Amino acid sequence: MRRYHVTTFGCQMNAHDSERIKGMLESLGLGEAPSQEGADVLVFNTCTIREKPDTKLAAYLGDAGARKRQNPELVVAVGGCYAEAQQERLFELYPYVDVAFGPGSIPHLGEWIGAGGEAPRGRFGTHEHFAGDLPMHRERRFSAWVQVSMGCNSKCAYCIVPAVRGREQSRRPGEILAEVTRLAADGVREITLLGQNVNSWGRDLRSNLDTEFGELLRACDAVEGIERIRFTSPHPKDFREPVVTAMADCAAVCEHVHLPVQSGSSRILKAMRRTYDAERYLRLVARLRDAIPDLALGTDVIVGFPGETEADFMQTLALVEEVRFDSAYTFIYSPRQGTEAATMAEQVADEVKHDRLERLVDVVQRIAAERNAERIGRIEEVLVEGASRTDASVLRGRTRRNTTVNFAGTAEPGELVDVEIEASSSTTLRGAQRTAVAA
Ligand code: 5AD
Ligand code: SF4
Repeated sequence: MRRYHVTTFGCQMNAHDSERIKGMLESLGLGEAPSQEGADVLVFNTCTIREKPDTKLAAYLGDAGARKRQNPELVVAVGGCYAEAQQERLFELYPYVDVAFGPGSIPHLGEWIGAGGEAPRGRFGTHEHFAGDLPMHRERRFSAWVQVSMGCNSKCAYCIVPAVRGREQSRRPGEILAEVTRLAADGVREITLLGQNVNSWGRDLRSNLDTEFGELLRACDAVEGIERIRFTSPHPKDFREPVVTAMADCAAVCEHVHLPVQSGSSRILKAMRRTYDAERYLRLVARLRDAIPDLALGTDVIVGFPGETEADFMQTLALVEEVRFDSAYTFIYSPRQGTEAATMAEQVADEVKHDRLERLVDVVQRIAAERNAERIGRIEEVLVEGASRTDASVLRGRTRRNTTVNFAGTAEPGELVDVEIEASSSTTLRGAQRTAVAA
């Protein structure tokens, strides 16, 4: 049997695309190899959001090139966002790559790799299918991703995603609900709705269907067996009242929002073309916290966007202090070729960016540690995932607020249990199982 190995970089959308890539290869009779050694087909599902994943990929591909010299039969396929951004140039940079394909071309992958015939070397920019329509190899038994849209119509000045993932296309609600219902029947208890901007879901369907994301949340909430609903990512500019009230009303929708702010300076937000200012973001946070008690908030922050002064950065720190995020991903601005910001004057010096990142991380971690410490003594509902990564005698799971908990207990993966929180760090909680919430 021919065997494949997929290496995935980047976001949850990419991780979900990899489930499709694997499903596709398995439907053609290939089996999964546990590592790159022993695989006949190597697939790299790439990311290009910042320079770092590009550099990491270069190292992986160097390795793949060496393997290919040893074994000329090896097929090397590069998919995802980096492939889409580089297109044919990829074959000049890495001549031993056999197949390259963009995120929209996964449905064709099988024809090229599986058949073993003469493959067109590159396929890009088609975006004709939802990953959800293809065979799938799910990585987790009780949690699943469900794609609600692809592409993005925003014009954030730093971001390469619209260039590589195309215009926004919403998946039809009937199709989404059919998939959610199928997943529930298969034992899935938690779904994460995925889109580049989930809150604008449905806008492009308006000509024949009047719906919006809040309505989709309500419909998913009504599916029997689905106990937890998450979604990522919403854009603050499109987070409207019907979604807030749906979150408040639906028992399955978790008390957690990942709400990327990017900067606390309204001047920089404007240059980023985020189309909200700091005040509007803070009003949205207040509204969400008012409607959803005990809400956990996560965010993304970029430091060193072109033109960012010390005063702008101080406003970012002030906003982070004011909101008190439960978690935050922090990034150094990375110019991406083809984006508006890459050619802006006033690029910020590397030392300044690194200094700001360090100061931001200190604040983010201190606040996250304080937020988690507030959970000590409380009972949290935990969806059990399996054994702890560091200590096999302890179980691991996630709270509704999306914090990882390691705990002493006897529950099975997929169970919802009550855990009393006894200790915390900036990223995890520790506790002990009390009673089962539901079988
Ligand atoms: N440089 C740094 N961070 C970026 N992000 C997106 N593009 C860039 C870039 N060019 C960050 C944003 C986004 C997250 C997924 O990655 O914060 O929300
Ligand atoms: Fe995901 Fe963006 Fe990276 Fe593509 S470029 S994998 S959409 S984070």
